[in-house]
Amino acid sequence: MPSAPDPCVIVIFGASGDLTARKLIPALYEMHCSCQLHAQTTMLGISRTDYSDEQWRDDLQPWVKKHANEYDEATWREFARRIHYYAGDATKQDTYPDLAKRIESLSNDNDSRGNVLFYLSVKPSLYEPIIEQIEQSGMILEGKRWCSINREQTPWQRIIVEKPVGHDLESAEALNRTLGRAFEEDAIYRIDHYLGKDLVQNLLVLRFANSIFEPLWTHHYIDHVQISAVETVGVGERAGYYNESGAIRDMIQSHLLQVLALVAMEPPTSFDAPHIRNEKIKAIDAIKITPVDRLAQSAALGQYAGDESETAYHEIDDVPDGSTMETFAAVKLLFENWRWAGTPFYLRTGKRMAMKRTEVAIQFKPPAADLFAKIQPLSDVNRPPNRLVIEIAPRPGISLRFEGKVPGAGGGLSPAIMEFDFIDWFGREPTEAYGPLLLDAMRGDQTLYPHRYEVEGSWRAIMPFLDDKAQILRDTIRANYKAGSWGPSAADELLARDGRAWHNGEQVIGACAK
Ligand code: BG6
Repeated sequence: MPSAPDPCVIVIFGASGDLTARKLIPALYEMHCSCQLHAQTTMLGISRTDYSDEQWRDDLQPWVKKHANEYDEATWREFARRIHYYAGDATKQDTYPDLAKRIESLSNDNDSRGNVLFYLSVKPSLYEPIIEQIEQSGMILEGKRWCSINREQTPWQRIIVEKPVGHDLESAEALNRTLGRAFEEDAIYRIDHYLGKDLVQNLLVLRFANSIFEPLWTHHYIDHVQISAVETVGVGERAGYYNESGAIRDMIQSHLLQVLALVAMEPPTSFDAPHIRNEKIKAIDAIKITPVDRLAQSAALGQYAGDESETAYHEIDDVPDGSTMETFAAVKLLFENWRWAGTPFYLRTGKRMAMKRTEVAIQFKPPAADLFAKIQPLSDVNRPPNRLVIEIAPRPGISLRFEGKVPGAGGGLSPAIMEFDFIDWFGREPTEAYGPLLLDAMRGDQTLYPHRYEVEGSWRAIMPFLDDKAQILRDTIRANYKAGSWGPSAADELLARDGRAWHNGEQVIGACAK
């Protein structure tokens, strides 16, 4: 059982923002309902809007009703008493003396031991100015020489930073340096909501709590790995943000490389944050940097065309004319280490695709000798190699494809699928992201938060695809894939060149149920 979270004041910068209303407060409300939030923990939201505590609570209530798993009026009123508001400009130094007093009085009134959890839920351009002001305000005591006498009793101050951590490698390093000037690395929590998904965490359990997979988990037996997160939705209202970001920054640098790290890492020597994070850092570090002359063979980018239900990306009002920002990206990454040498990892993400599906597909190599060549050779399309699919969303589960004998005399071979349906088996929905991750930060557990070097290593691995030289991949992407399709033809060609094909939503969990 994880330890209980410490009491604290959660200081949310960006209180009037969308993320706070849609994700953070509903998640904290759920944690309150399940009694997982320490009884002495309170929340203080900050933004420039001139609200009272009461007005902010009223503003949040409909969001909680809509987004929390359960809602009850009396419980909401109880929870709302824990929410407070402070109107001020968090980028200005003169906001801080008074803000610090408010935090201190909330902490004293509620006996939360002086612990403070800062949450940056603001636009990325405000991260550094706010961190600098927090640093100069003198509120950070942990790790500072003058108060390091008794760690047990020293109040902690931690910070949660939302993605994106940087816009490229250079800005990520700069942000990490700014964070490091104010906070110790063990007080910095870079949140990636994919690590809060049960099926992503289950990758560690699948690999390291079982003995049957690990011996096969190498380039000797695995032909290639596909990690896909495709969505049916378009960029919607977020075109302003999206056109600065694109699919590689939005999904691959963070979420998909985190999943890759869990699939590719070596077994840690113990199941705790330092050991797990060290192995992830090493795995990310072993990704081969794609040379410029291999860019065209290693990536395919796309931009969705319009249909009757949604405008084409390039025609969205907030998208500048001639934008070459990608809404689809597929990249091929190779490793330079003993475990994975020669086994490619293909990462793919896209908006307005054929289905919503997030998965890891592990494709095994064919058997070394083909004993059944006369009945049905390995080259027969009806005899595909073994494949293990870990479906993260929408229907979490795992399925394994293997060969079976068709019943009766003279029967050939036929692929069979064995599946584990997470919801049916455990009898409940998997938990999603924010709540459990927030609790981890309150108990000081960084296992599910990427280390600075993971983030920087991920940027390093994908920078070749964001470089000016990669513009050739973007030049012709305008409307190059149909809404509701599996992406541009260049993505199929990327795999076809290697004699492989994308796993396009086959082996869907539940499909075998008769
Ligand atoms: C976010 C991206 O981080 O993840 C979005 O900014 C994307 O563009 C979302 O839609 C996908 O998350 P999930 O949990 O639905 O796979």
